[in-house]
Amino acid sequence: MSFLDDDLSPLRWDDGALLLLDQRALPTKESWLSLSRYEDVCVAIRELAVRGAPAIGCAAAYGVALGFRQVGHAGLARVHAELAATRPTAVNLFWALQRMRGIEPSFEALLAEARAIQAEDLRACRTLGALGAQLIPDGGILTHCNAGALATGGYGTALGVIRAAVAKGRSIHVFADETRPVLQGARLTAWELSRSGIGVTVITDGMAAHLMARGEIHAVVVGADRIARNGDTANKIGTYSVALAAAAHGLPFIVAAPWSTVDLACPSGASIPIEERAADEVTHHGGRRLVPDGVRVRNPAFDVTPARYITAIVTELGIARPPFVESLALDKEKR
Ligand code: MRU
Repeated sequence: MSFLDDDLSPLRWDDGALLLLDQRALPTKESWLSLSRYEDVCVAIRELAVRGAPAIGCAAAYGVALGFRQVGHAGLARVHAELAATRPTAVNLFWALQRMRGIEPSFEALLAEARAIQAEDLRACRTLGALGAQLIPDGGILTHCNAGALATGGYGTALGVIRAAVAKGRSIHVFADETRPVLQGARLTAWELSRSGIGVTVITDGMAAHLMARGEIHAVVVGADRIARNGDTANKIGTYSVALAAAAHGLPFIVAAPWSTVDLACPSGASIPIEERAADEVTHHGGRRLVPDGVRVRNPAFDVTPARYITAIVTELGIARPPFVESLALDKEKR
């Protein structure tokens, strides 16, 4: 495989069903789920078989088409409500459902819109990837979680920036935070990048600041689940710590996301709902208990990086720089 092999997509429509690459099984098993009921799409989103903000939006859009095929007009509001209740933080889910509401419902029209949402996301990732590649230096690039092809319609956001830089012949080596507790960095980013022939080293989350201090990391690029009007950005838990460490070492901290992740109705990070997930993601790993029975744990799945720690936000509409309240508003005008 080479970095030119960038056609990985975690979801596709085939023979009347939504096929999802089951991300819970990676990196040890590549298995595809075949879903023909919207309820199964809800479970797949909730249980992280499909994850990553843009991919969740795409899956939900296909879920609406499946739901209409099952229950028709009469049940469509319930289909929307159940899909909307799966995960609260990634605004792409609500953005995609809103777009599906704008379609005069027929199965064919809803399926066509879901396909269009996925195709547009792939195009957005390629465009923002090319723009973002100009922002990262050669050398060690740290990323957190998985904001790659697996998390999108294809190509990726943060990893799209890296793919575009590597494709231009730039000398990039990726450091992937393992991303506790669900290990999207260790399992998914490492799988995706090594499949594409892009150099990657996995580190535990606590190692990033050390490697920055040693001069091994030269910039950070991450994805986003929701970007507020003022630039505050929700992303996988641990992103805020990475941003603080990058600021302390004077390193660029780049957020890469499609415009569908920008929520101008949300004034600041304080209004972003943060998902709390089940305790067993923290207390157990691979079926083994890590934390003594009866000890309380917390499991917020996301955190908010304040805009003041963000160097630039790159979307398919352009590169926004602080103050984001102005630059994001200007980007919106381009739509
Ligand atoms: O819980 P997840 O795996 O859905 O969280 C994913 C992230 O936080 C990603 O960084 C974000 O959705 C951007 S994906 C392009």
